[in-house]
Amino acid sequence: MSQPLVEVPVADVVVFGGTGDLAVRKLLPALYLRDRDGQLPAETRILATSRAGLDDDGYRDKVRGELMRFVASEELEDDVVERFLARLAHTSLDIADPDGWEELGARLDDPERVRVFYLAISPGLFGTVSARLAEHGLVTEQSRLVLEKPIGHDLASAQEINDAVGAVFAEHQIFRIDHYLGKESVQNLLVTRFANTFLEPLWNATAIDHVQITASETLGVGGRGGYYDGSGALRDMVQNHLLQLLCLVAMEPPTYVGHETVRDEKLKVLQALRPITGADVDQQVVAGQYVAGLVDGAAAAAYAEEAGRPDSRTETFVAIRAEVANWRWAGVPFYLRTGKRLDRRASEIVIQFKDVPHPMFPAAEGTSEPNRLVIQLQPEEGMRLHLTAKEPGPGGIRLRPVSLDLSYTSAFTERSPEAYERLLMDVVRGNPQLFMRRDEVEAAWRWVEPIHEHWTRTAAKPRRYPAGTSGPYAATTLVERDGRQWHEHE
Ligand code: BG6
Repeated sequence: MSQPLVEVPVADVVVFGGTGDLAVRKLLPALYLRDRDGQLPAETRILATSRAGLDDDGYRDKVRGELMRFVASEELEDDVVERFLARLAHTSLDIADPDGWEELGARLDDPERVRVFYLAISPGLFGTVSARLAEHGLVTEQSRLVLEKPIGHDLASAQEINDAVGAVFAEHQIFRIDHYLGKESVQNLLVTRFANTFLEPLWNATAIDHVQITASETLGVGGRGGYYDGSGALRDMVQNHLLQLLCLVAMEPPTYVGHETVRDEKLKVLQALRPITGADVDQQVVAGQYVAGLVDGAAAAAYAEEAGRPDSRTETFVAIRAEVANWRWAGVPFYLRTGKRLDRRASEIVIQFKDVPHPMFPAAEGTSEPNRLVIQLQPEEGMRLHLTAKEPGPGGIRLRPVSLDLSYTSAFTERSPEAYERLLMDVVRGNPQLFMRRDEVEAAWRWVEPIHEHWTRTAAKPRRYPAGTSGPYAATTLVERDGRQWHEHE
């Protein structure tokens, strides 16, 4: 069964940073796949800018090579590749320089078309690009601005960026990407919660013991040390991806799923997060940094060496015990954890239900395990509900844990689109629902900032963990102290 295509308008997609890592690894492959599936109208164009000094043909050649690297070979079709390349153009432009903007302006010759300005560049340039676009009269009613994270490194810098882009673009024209929100399983979380009746009555502190949200990676920082060392796991992953997941788990049902309604509800969750400040940070947050170890049987260097910063105090791992201080979630811990160079690549949300109130079956017949709903985002997408069942056979009732599985790959035969495919089409359609609104980004910074401030004030050193392990031992004690355990991937 093929997926129905939502019609998208003709657009000029301008990619600033058109030869950069993000553009070649994610954006161009995503646009190619949308073209291959017939979603891009024939007139849609992709206008890249960079300092690479390429002409249109030179850029097309480069992108041809990159598509071979970053699109799975079974998805590559020669005629579609050529059709896609014909949409591309390249303008040499140094953002800090006045040259090049006239040429870009001349290429943007139809003011009625949707214009997407995708800033796949350093956030420090977001304001400058917006101002230049305005100066050259390139911002139309139908224009949209796409910003990649990080939106700042703290609240003040996020506000500064938001002010600078907000001076040129209205909030409804600004699309702040959090690619986690484009993942199928993340959107399915909303559908599972709100398009079914059986979960919602249990979705609260009465039935749920705690929630775990894990995003574990085996990769190290690789060539991103320059950016990463000024960021760290808290700002790179928690401020955005993990808090967005937490919001989707904890939010109230909106009246309907509209452009603003889901974002309104997510904002309320962020505002309800109990602040973690001062000495509480030492109790509720664990920071770690990997040292040399073995990942998938291969030697992996220490972070400090990989990033070229021998004295770095940047955390590559963080675990947090968070609380959502509202009626629904009072007393339910939300344990968040993310790290690089861990023992497995897996992102998942675990909803751990409470144990039965009274053990009715004699212990000799086995114990009933508390129910657990595991929502897997990576590597496979799916959902698993752990239950207790009777072991078949005569001679009494013996209890045995079983699971109900929904594997996306076996339940749905269609290719699951990459997050960027869906998000880019939403931008062109002007649908902001899966993008972070200014108030959400700032509320998330407001919660994260005191944790970072405490580390800076106390010159805290992250705990060392060998690459290829599950992180520092203190993260285990963070949950064990509460009489709980991290869920390990099955
Ligand atoms: C990015 C972070 O936003 O998300 C990276 O900057 C991280 O450090 C990546 O590796 C993880 O994304 P995914 O989709 O592979 O889980």
